[in-house]
Amino acid sequence: MQARSESLRLAGKRIVFVPTMGYLHEGHLNLMREGRKIGDSLVVSIFVNPTQFGPGEDYEKYPRDFKRDEELASQVGADIVFYPTVDEMYPANYQTYVTVEGVTLNLCGQSRPIHFRGVATVCAKLFNIVKPHAAVFGKKDFQQLVTIRRMVADLNMDLEIHGMDTTREPDGLAMSSRNVYLKDGEREAALSLSRGLKIAQGLYDSGEREAAVIIEAVKNHISSYDTNIIDYVKICDTETLEDIDQIERESVIALAVKVGLPRLIDNYVFGEPLAIP
Ligand code: PAJ
Repeated sequence: MQARSESLRLAGKRIVFVPTMGYLHEGHLNLMREGRKIGDSLVVSIFVNPTQFGPGEDYEKYPRDFKRDEELASQVGADIVFYPTVDEMYPANYQTYVTVEGVTLNLCGQSRPIHFRGVATVCAKLFNIVKPHAAVFGKKDFQQLVTIRRMVADLNMDLEIHGMDTTREPDGLAMSSRNVYLKDGEREAALSLSRGLKIAQGLYDSGEREAAVIIEAVKNHISSYDTNIIDYVKICDTETLEDIDQIERESVIALAVKVGLPRLIDNYVFGEPLAIP
């Protein structure tokens, strides 16, 4: 992969990279379509990264379908699909990890303490392997995007990071590889995340700026479904990801909820458009 990238660079091509864990859906494909627009050569990686899953999480069960993924990625114009093995990425004696500090502490960092270390490490490795000029990430994983931007700035990595809006099902549910875990009847409960964001937007648009008031309304809606167990509903500064009391600067409401088996996340940056019916 490094040799292929080096020759693309020597030929003057702009390499755009979309890292994924596979089981591709329209959200991933939209990142790839964007990647095609902003570069000459599109590299997509498919790697279910063990170091970002904690004990008891769904690493073994994470859905995989490499053949279908490869076809979909080629259909949207991927030039190279890179799918390393776990042994290639983490050979025996592997000892180096990247830890981004402040922005990984809140939100998912609290319930998944090693998650962002794994994400930052694998992305740093993939950037060194693929040597992209730009990489595209989804805003659906808002804290991940902030973490990667922080790492790239702090470690002087020579690439641009593009953030793409969340792709949703027509009913508003944010697309996720983990939606396949939802059982019949849990779909309605899962919709409480996007509907909760809609409630937050409505309150904000009518002038509410008190974080606790918005959080309370969203929590009430989500917990009205028996299957739902709220991990967090928080309003944070979009740069530091620290909790805030009053919405004064650019802020995001971020949700993580266990809906039956899967733990789903979603978020909304106040003041932006929201494609939820
Ligand atoms: P994965 O969950 O497969 O997501 C790959 C990329 O697709 C991420 O940038 C994610 O934010 C984006 N994405 C997922 N669902 C989306 C949606 N509905 N709309 C828009 N973008 C969406 O995120 C990871 O993999 C991993 O942590 C990875 C970065 C590959 C490191 O292992």
